[in-house]
Amino acid sequence: MSPSELISQAIIARRRAYAPYSHFWVGAALLCQDGSVYLGCNIENSAYGPTVCAERTAIFKAISEGASDFAAIAIVGGGQDVPEESLAPIYPCGVCRQVMSEFCKGDFLIYCGTPQQPLSFTLDEMLPCRFEL
Ligand code: THU
Repeated sequence: MSPSELISQAIIARRRAYAPYSHFWVGAALLCQDGSVYLGCNIENSAYGPTVCAERTAIFKAISEGASDFAAIAIVGGGQDVPEESLAPIYPCGVCRQVMSEFCKGDFLIYCGTPQQPLSFTLDEMLPCRFEL
């Protein structure tokens, strides 16, 4: 699956965001080496702390379903009123980068941007000198 196709899947996932506090809708699409895709959206909470980002939703869904060999993740986000065709690039938060670090190798790919203009990074680039036990 191309970066553009995976970003398009993340845009579909974003439609399910539950973000009544920030009004910032995020979608993620996690691609496994076998070609399967897990979608995630951000899920907020009135107590704020329990909020889960779209990337972690997708990763935890995959792990809990027994998937383990991840190739790439696409991330999109923007205010709830921003039309899908006008979304600007966003980048994963530090907590999500650390969760990626738990389950993914350094060459794991992170796609930001838009289907028309995908941006690609490795996990090594986004989280150098990672903490591991
Ligand atoms: N958010 C994500 O879903 N992923 C990120 O990488 C950064 C932030 C969500 C959390 C919250 O629901 C909203 O965006 C605003 O911070």
